[in-house]
Amino acid sequence: MRFTLISLLRLVALSRSDLLLPFSLSNDLINYTAQLEQPSSNGSICNVAQLNYCQYLFNQNFGLNSSVSYDQGSDIFSTIQDHLNSNVTQLNRVCKARTSFYHCLGQSYYSCMNLHTRLETTDPSNGFDYIRTFRGLEWTCGGGFREVMNQWDCIVNLPTTNAYQSCINFFNQSVSTNNFCPSIQQTGECLNDVYRDACGYVEVSLIIGYSNLISFQAGHYGCESFRYTFHKACPGIQCPVGNSKLVA
Ligand SMILES: *[C@@H]1O[C@H](CO)[C@@H](O)[C@H](O)[C@H]1NC(C)=O
Ligand SMILES: *[C@@H]1O[C@H](CO)[C@@H](O)[C@H](O)[C@H]1NC(C)=O
Ligand SMILES: *[C@@H]1O[C@H](CO)[C@@H](O)[C@H](O)[C@H]1NC(C)=O
Ligand SMILES: *[C@@H]1O[C@H](CO)[C@@H](O)[C@H](O)[C@H]1NC(C)=O
Ligand SMILES: *[C@@H]1O[C@H](CO)[C@@H](O)[C@H](O)[C@H]1NC(C)=O
Repeated sequence: MRFTLISLLRLVALSRSDLLLPFSLSNDLINYTAQLEQPSSNGSICNVAQLNYCQYLFNQNFGLNSSVSYDQGSDIFSTIQDHLNSNVTQLNRVCKARTSFYHCLGQSYYSCMNLHTRLETTDPSNGFDYIRTFRGLEWTCGGGFREVMNQWDCIVNLPTTNAYQSCINFFNQSVSTNNFCPSIQQTGECLNDVYRDACGYVEVSLIIGYSNLISFQAGHYGCESFRYTFHKACPGIQCPVGNSKLVA
């Protein structure tokens, strides 16, 4: 059963994989997300010349046209997605470039990486794609790095599954301005279960044979991959944290 699942996942791997989670959000809700993360004061300002420079250096790692700026977030998202999904070598390369970008921006990083600020000069989808690229990398190259290295095959292919899609369909149909953060919380929990069930077993079944040791790390990884995009808009939401549980 598990082997069947893994084989299936490997097959789909040839067609498509997505480490930066694929989902769409309407322009209205992108605008709403931006309102929720509007900076409360002028305390930190994004230095646009510096952002342009750092973005240029970042782009050079990925063969992006040097004229591609932070305003073309959708191009940046799909280019990084492609590099990220190739193999762990490319993932490491993306993460190194992301670390340099972060240091290049220094104290401006968080003020530049603000959706409200970005939408002042960019349309909603380019602005949102830009922000979710770098927030996705904050998690994948940071707290989630070890898990994604351990579980590469399973994690990279999970967004091709029906289970993933049903969480995203739920999000798509339930999210509104009335229940915005709660619906992100619920979608994160949905993804937690899906990643735990699909990828939580694999790692340990190799070590202890037939026992059902469930690792909750994989579930946590999946939930955070989604939550990070919204962690400024909905600072209260949390992903379940777990260790491992041995089931008879
Ligand atoms: C749901 O998905 C559709 C198609 O991907 C998209 O056009 C729509 O904006 C999404 N709805 C919300 C509320 O994000
Ligand atoms: C988003 O907000 C901008 C600026 O407030 C506005 O011009 C634009 O029409 C809004 N778009 C949507 C889809 O609400
Ligand atoms: C932010 O800056 C604008 C103009 O640059 C100024 O009018 C406004 O009072 C400032 N707001 C705060 C909270 O400092
Ligand atoms: C970069 O894009 C611009 C505008 O699309 C184009 O004119 C230019 O030739 C491109 N440069 C390179 C090196 O591809
Ligand atoms: C990783 O992917 C890149 C780009 O697709 C490819 O050039 C490289 O050979 C791959 N490396 C390994 C170890 O598979």
